[in-house]
Amino acid sequence: MPQLDSRFIRSQFPAFEEPSLNGWGFFENAGGSYACRQVISRLTHYYTRTKVQPYYGFPASMAAGAAMDEAYARMAAYLNVGEDEVHFGPSTTQNLYVLARAFRELWDKGDEIIVTNQDHEANSGFWRRLEKTGMVVKEWGIDPRTGRLNPGDLDALFSARTRLLAFPHCSNIIAHVNPVAEIAARAKAAGAFVVVDGVSYAPHGCLMSGPWGRTSIFSPFTRPGGRIWGS
Ligand SMILES: Cc1ncc(COP(=O)(O)O)c(C=O)c1O
Repeated sequence: MPQLDSRFIRSQFPAFEEPSLNGWGFFENAGGSYACRQVISRLTHYYTRTKVQPYYGFPASMAAGAAMDEAYARMAAYLNVGEDEVHFGPSTTQNLYVLARAFRELWDKGDEIIVTNQDHEANSGFWRRLEKTGMVVKEWGIDPRTGRLNPGDLDALFSARTRLLAFPHCSNIIAHVNPVAEIAARAKAAGAFVVVDGVSYAPHGCLMSGPWGRTSIFSPFTRPGGRIWGS
């Protein structure tokens, strides 16, 4: 079985060679993490050569547009989705804020949203706040003994007015991975959109493994570079 070459991997991260960081361990990646040299090199290229309006007729602009096209193509291939299904945004929180506002325009008062108490605030708060606009918000609660969400509990929550189900790919607290395909299939059968927060899971596994219906999934290729969603 091939061994992970941790010496090679460490050599890709200049922070390990930075004397002022020597001896420190950083466990605060929600605040950002040190990037590998390939990311630093791409960003340096961007800030020094192509930080212009893209898709105009002058060379730097054409190069900027080509770099953007390449980013969409490569991320779509990585996620196994179409390029037009990938969106890069400033943060998951901001992407979800925009999505919640946009969805609200499609729904009527009394329509229902299901949220969980296993989510990070980003994939819960904006949906819950739609209650003030007349939406009915239901909570799919964890089993307090295990911290897990039980997909079987959803049957009692779905109704003819369910419009959306928001849940995390995995729990930040207990690291349990939710059966996304099964949950999405249940939501699809109920006619609901699905929004999956993949921020915690994405660095550890394959995000898009099948046709999940009307599913938006958020992932954390972040800091620097914003966050994306694929649907
Ligand atoms: C599971 C999860 N979802 C969402 C977010 C929010 O992400 P962002 O900082 O991109 O808004 C975080 C933040 O770390 C997170 O851990």
